[in-house]
Amino acid sequence: MDLSKKIREVQDFPKEGINFKDITTLLQDKDAFQYMVNKLAQELEDLEIDIVVGPESRGFLVGAPVAYKIGAGFVPVRKPGKLPHETMRYEYQLEYGSDVLEIHKDAIQPGQKVAILDDLLATGGTVLATAKLIEALGGEVVSINFLIELAFLKGRDVLKSYHVKTLVSYD
Ligand code: PRP
Ligand code: MG
Repeated sequence: MDLSKKIREVQDFPKEGINFKDITTLLQDKDAFQYMVNKLAQELEDLEIDIVVGPESRGFLVGAPVAYKIGAGFVPVRKPGKLPHETMRYEYQLEYGSDVLEIHKDAIQPGQKVAILDDLLATGGTVLATAKLIEALGGEVVSINFLIELAFLKGRDVLKSYHVKTLVSYD
């Protein structure tokens, strides 16, 4: 199945000049959703993943079903102030300003094998911050998997020390 045909492109959203990749059209299609989950799960076969981590919020939509499919646990990384127990935080720079992500300190045990899943690789900032949080807790990031890659933003360079795979790439 060509998943790129299931992703809607919305011009000038959320601001002018941006061609937004809308995954809601893929998720609402039962065959495409199942195909996506199975494909992502296939890429993680044989890696003995203990935990799938998904960054809020679209990472939940992709990560949780894949975790279920491969028999791994799911851990959310969230925007600040959302997780109720003790958290570790990581602040990272954006083009203008900075952003923060948090994880529960007891979410990952040292030595656990972790895969990060998210819908989209743009600059790589979100997932790099997620990887730093996992590593700070002693987890091993063995794979990073996306549905979509915006190749022209060169997010792969930021993630060059990791194993990165994507299903659909835009030049
Ligand atoms: C989007 C997307 C990725 C991230 C990619 O999330 O879902 O998580 O941006 O960009 P990056 O590679 O430059 O970090 P967003 O922060 O818009 O939040 P959402 O998932 O809650 O929609
Ligand atoms: Mg996101």
